[in-house]
Amino acid sequence: MARKLFVAGNWKMNTSAADAVELAKGLAAEIGAVDAVDLAVCPPSVYLSAVADALKGSNIAVGAQNMYCQDNGAFTGEISSAMVKDVGCKYVILGHSERRHVMGESDELINSKVLKALSDDLLPIFCIGELLEQREAGETDDVVHRQVTIGLEGVSRTDAQRITLAYEPVWAIGTGVTATPDQAQEVHAMLRELLGNIYDAELAQSMRIQYGGSVKGSNAAELLGQPDVDGALVGGASLKVEDFVGIVKAVI
Ligand code: PGA
Repeated sequence: MARKLFVAGNWKMNTSAADAVELAKGLAAEIGAVDAVDLAVCPPSVYLSAVADALKGSNIAVGAQNMYCQDNGAFTGEISSAMVKDVGCKYVILGHSERRHVMGESDELINSKVLKALSDDLLPIFCIGELLEQREAGETDDVVHRQVTIGLEGVSRTDAQRITLAYEPVWAIGTGVTATPDQAQEVHAMLRELLGNIYDAELAQSMRIQYGGSVKGSNAAELLGQPDVDGALVGGASLKVEDFVGIVKAVI
């Protein structure tokens, strides 16, 4: 089954209100009509509305970088899936390594968020990936196996079809050190096998698995040319129109 490539920009804690709108408008002008690949940007939550407005009428969707797993209530500083949808988001990034390792999110919390996003009709971009020491200790398979198994606990086969998995080796995020195409392909193939065991071969073949970690225009085509790599989650290179456009143009 052919999987459509999906390239998403994770702006992290960057941009001002004016920068965010300018970036969104710049992207809309350059790649807003692309439909050979699915596109999304994930700005800081306070700029979601403004970016969604700026991208109206384009093919670039908007995603949040995080959300909480409850409907509402006394959860200071958090935002709900309903709020995220309210401001025009289609996607939500969950389990990003910075949430796991800087904010201390557990696999179990991430699982509750995945379930909540799916039940409220958001499309999760569910991130997993090993630390450098885990890779060096030969633990990559065990780590991502645990992250995927717990993260997808209780997710039905039907709901799983709405998830994009993002494999982001932590040692490659923001470091300029990219996984080689072979290293990415090896883990992606293993993930697809794991999805086949959790669900079935058909689901495993249809789920998109993005690669993330220092993706740029110069390495995107080779990485995304691997048989099991179905797109990219892009951090640093999503913050300038020409950089993100360069990645998209390299793969269409
Ligand atoms: P990077 O970040 O492209 O800056 O390495 C990727 C990510 O964290 O999603």
